[in-house]
Amino acid sequence: MKKYIVFALSGNKKTAKNVAEILNCELGKSSITKFKDGEILAKTLSDVRNKDVILIQSTSKPSNDKLFEILLFVDSVRRMNPKSITLVIPYLGYARQERVSWINEPVSCEVVANIIDTTKADRLLTFDLHHNDIENFFRMPLINLSAVTLFAMSAKKYYESKHIDLSNVTIVSPDHGSNKRVDNLTKLLPHTSKVILNKHRPAPNKAEHFSIDEALVKGKHCLILDDMIDTGGTLISAANLLQKCGSKSIIVMATHSVFSQNCTKKLIAANIKKIIVTNSIEKRLSKDVEQLDISPIIASYFK
Ligand code: R5P
Repeated sequence: MKKYIVFALSGNKKTAKNVAEILNCELGKSSITKFKDGEILAKTLSDVRNKDVILIQSTSKPSNDKLFEILLFVDSVRRMNPKSITLVIPYLGYARQERVSWINEPVSCEVVANIIDTTKADRLLTFDLHHNDIENFFRMPLINLSAVTLFAMSAKKYYESKHIDLSNVTIVSPDHGSNKRVDNLTKLLPHTSKVILNKHRPAPNKAEHFSIDEALVKGKHCLILDDMIDTGGTLISAANLLQKCGSKSIIVMATHSVFSQNCTKKLIAANIKKIIVTNSIEKRLSKDVEQLDISPIIASYFK
């Protein structure tokens, strides 16, 4: 019989609470403080001896602090001899730096993976990792969960409410990186079709799409699926192209709401009818953005 105790640090507090409720287990108490010089002190205030510890924390902004909280907290837990430690990092910061794009660049994601490995946690759970190669950077067992089932349910509900038949819906991958994710969503939404766009980045945080055969999206209701929304540039550029090609409507879904600039207004101005994300990163979002809860998916891993 597992004796779970679920912790949150400075992020993902609601998710940790929900997961503890679903698993009907203890919600642990943690303490995060900062010294005057900015150094972090993260520790458990709950007894974890002989318990199966679940720690939920995305390494979203401020990524470095959140990462360091995890490292220090796990050390404080380990010193009390828990039975096991599972790290749940729904959004893994630095994931987009998973390859060398230019000769003098680091593979930052691999560096972060090596650091997380030093915690010697028993396993790591993530959500919709930016790239499959990232799994190979970790030595600890990694389980990459997906929000695609939540998106499928949400899409069905949305199109039913608009009386739109799924055969008139095209699922769009905004670049080749999201292709597999889009395949998985297409399988859960029978009769939909699929289109992959070609994206290039003329400069960091700028996105442009190459034109496509108009016939693929003309008269279709398009659903663009991505792993994350950061500046919104990728989705806006994709939406502009789809509209130019005669799409009937556009909605967007993405797992991680990085939203490093407040891009909701720009997405709406680009005539995007609905924006759906998950709470992998817990933050207050505009009421125009719908947030789906990943807690049941995390909890079901432990049931
Ligand atoms: C890029 O490869 C990712 O999958 C996302 O498309 C990208 O990071 C989103 O960023 P932004 O919203 O700034 O275009």
